[in-house]
Amino acid sequence: MRKRIVAGNWKMNKNLEEGKKLTSEVINIVADELNDDVQVILGTPFIHLDSVSKLLKDSPKIGLSAQNCSEHESGAYTGETSAAMLTSIGAEYVILGHSERREYFGETNEQLAAKTDKAMEHGLTPIFCCGEALDIREAGTQKEYVCQQLTDSLFHLSADDIKKIVIAYEPIWAIGTGKTASAEQAQEMHADIRTHLAGKYGAEVAEEISILYGGSCKPSNAKEIFAGKDVDGGLIGGASLVARDFVDIAKSF
Ligand code: G3P
Repeated sequence: MRKRIVAGNWKMNKNLEEGKKLTSEVINIVADELNDDVQVILGTPFIHLDSVSKLLKDSPKIGLSAQNCSEHESGAYTGETSAAMLTSIGAEYVILGHSERREYFGETNEQLAAKTDKAMEHGLTPIFCCGEALDIREAGTQKEYVCQQLTDSLFHLSADDIKKIVIAYEPIWAIGTGKTASAEQAQEMHADIRTHLAGKYGAEVAEEISILYGGSCKPSNAKEIFAGKDVDGGLIGGASLVARDFVDIAKSF
């Protein structure tokens, strides 16, 4: 049984005190209301990892993720943060390949393959993002585009390692726009991704990999999206900044 996961991506939001407050609110609501079959993850900016990790010490149901890591082990990479640094501060996951990093910081499929390797070398679980822009969706070539992202960045991995990866499909045209993919569009792409994984690794391995949906997922639409048989949860941006909304999404299975 693959894991049901709802991960928050705070992006570049919350100062230190606001982050502690949001984390405490999520902890309290999860403890009271969420059953054990959903893994909740908080994806925070680097400045929050230490304090959030300490707050989560007694909340094993909630995991901690960074939003990026370097493909380099260490050294003269000013401004970068290494996978070893992330594990030393308590991160268990790392979001890689988010469309905003691909767009604004020029991350390539090849670079993301190296980031994935480095993260896994240090025991981090990548939440690997893929997804197409509107022009590709309108051209009807989204399946080929997304599958190529996965082939280029992940298909060098062994079957044992690919099973450790969480994949997040985020149609770029739905991120932060309020224009969510329909439940049918989400399920169709998730099924295409799983078929692509099965073509490389076999159906049994593909069935073990959690595939999350991201892109304007809200309490009002999460239930319908998560009903997709290949949708295993969500990667949540804006709605993860409000504890009540974020946990309501996690309760939507
Ligand atoms: O990584 C999740 C994010 O890209 C989705 O953002 O605000 O549309 O939920 P949002």
